[in-house]
Amino acid sequence: MAESLAEAVSRRRTFAIIAHPDAGKTTLTEKLLLFGGAIQLAGEVKAKKDRMQTRSDWMKIERERGISVVTSVMTFEYNDNVFNILDTPGHEDFADDTYRTLTAVDAAVMVIDAAKGIEPRTLKLFEVCRMRDIPIITFINKMDRESRDPFEILDEVEEKLALDTAPITWPIGRSKTFCGSYNIAANTVRGSDTEIEGTPVNGPQSVAGRLPENERQVFVEETELAIEACRPFDRQAFLEGHMTPVFFGSALRNYGVRDLINALGDFAPPPRDQVADTRTVHATDDKMTAFVFKIQANMDPNHRDRIAFARICSGKLERGMKARLARTGKQLGLTAPQFFFASQRQLADTAYAGDVVGIPNHGTLRIGDTLTEGESLVFQGVPNFSPEILRRVRLEDAMKAKKLKEALQQMAEEGVVQLFSPEDGSPAIVGVVGALQLDVLKERLMAEYGLPVSFEMSRFSVCRWISAEQPADLEKFLTVKRGDIARDLDGDPVFLAQDGFSLRYESERHPAIKMVAIKEYHAAKAA
Ligand code: G4P
Repeated sequence: MAESLAEAVSRRRTFAIIAHPDAGKTTLTEKLLLFGGAIQLAGEVKAKKDRMQTRSDWMKIERERGISVVTSVMTFEYNDNVFNILDTPGHEDFADDTYRTLTAVDAAVMVIDAAKGIEPRTLKLFEVCRMRDIPIITFINKMDRESRDPFEILDEVEEKLALDTAPITWPIGRSKTFCGSYNIAANTVRGSDTEIEGTPVNGPQSVAGRLPENERQVFVEETELAIEACRPFDRQAFLEGHMTPVFFGSALRNYGVRDLINALGDFAPPPRDQVADTRTVHATDDKMTAFVFKIQANMDPNHRDRIAFARICSGKLERGMKARLARTGKQLGLTAPQFFFASQRQLADTAYAGDVVGIPNHGTLRIGDTLTEGESLVFQGVPNFSPEILRRVRLEDAMKAKKLKEALQQMAEEGVVQLFSPEDGSPAIVGVVGALQLDVLKERLMAEYGLPVSFEMSRFSVCRWISAEQPADLEKFLTVKRGDIARDLDGDPVFLAQDGFSLRYESERHPAIKMVAIKEYHAAKAA
């Protein structure tokens, strides 16, 4: 019998892994795919990363600097669940990309290096999750190495993140003697992840024999203390973002990964409701709705394709169906939506709420776009962050100004950079969160458009989106400040300031003007 929409939706788990670089995100992703049956051999994810990098010109930057810029999605089925892992760029210069990706997940796995605890990027990414009430499962990685005391790590999570912790498992041994975990809640024990099920036991005492004699007593005392002193897991508190279940393991040595997959299946929520301008959309609503959170160009340079990654928010997407693009009101044929697996892509005949599909297109789709089966609604909340760096693009061949304009427009639609056109007609200004984005822009303009460019300082360094309750107030400000006003990709006005001081000064002088650093994509632009 065909699966109902409600059944299909309830099986889905869409999540991201957040971590400070080097904590083990790639290794953990790979092991999730390995134990989830999506890949045969460890090493494929990294190998694939390398292959993709050598195939693509602009990704040279990644290869040279050893960073990962590409966000992608990977799907696998385990037990009865369909898991969609959304990968996020590790480097903070691509933070806006990561933040946008986090709008498309229902849960996150926070990976912490057991020796290092909470690191700066972990904290930042956690804050974004908290802003969006994304429930978090914690994986304390690298227990096979010298690590901090588990209680100390739990305390740090509680203090630095103001998040209650509930250890579900407790590590057996440390560094060289680490040999698995005792499941506090289930009273079972699992050695490595080659054991599919945990073995029922009779309390920590009955597990201690796995350790060298001199460590047994400490293990028993510590685990009993954990059972007594730590909070029991409360799923409601977890779903509301107040509590995190904690697992200990070693992604590299295959410990704790199965616990994590099971936790994602058992605890993590199915696809969440999504807020649109006209109503709240439920995942089990009949009609398909989706939004684009990421555009990826050049995944396959032979095809020069541009893939829009869309998160389905409700209903069922079927290949061949027509969707309405809210921004323009036009119809779009979904003739070749794609799923991504560890080592290949595949045509998606049907996809359900929670799934992420790649939609090949030639520039029709932009970040933040909403697709529906006809209904006029726009999803809120795919953010645009005000850039940290503003630059003018200097073209070596002035004859190519028109081509540059087109190219910059394209890059801005893909979310590579933000583009601001000054009202006074002076050359466009590009804005980025991190300097590496400028390098990507430069390389791509050269490789794809044959446009050699350099960047010049702009007299501006800060920008804010502006609005006013009374349209007349905004008009007046736009006229008076014309030399400091630009329009973004959507035609929305931004105020450009020389520095933070002049920004504060102007905003105090013009209290009727609201200046914001984060803009939700075309929130008010339903056609
Ligand atoms: P990232 O994506 O978060 O940046 O981290 P990644 O998985 O690339 O892991 C960073 C380094 O930590 C890698 O070592 C990886 O092998 C190691 N690692 C990951 N998980 C564990 C673990 O559970 N235990 C131990 N001991 N090491 C772990 P590398 O030497 O930098 O890279 P590689 O040459 O091994 O690929």
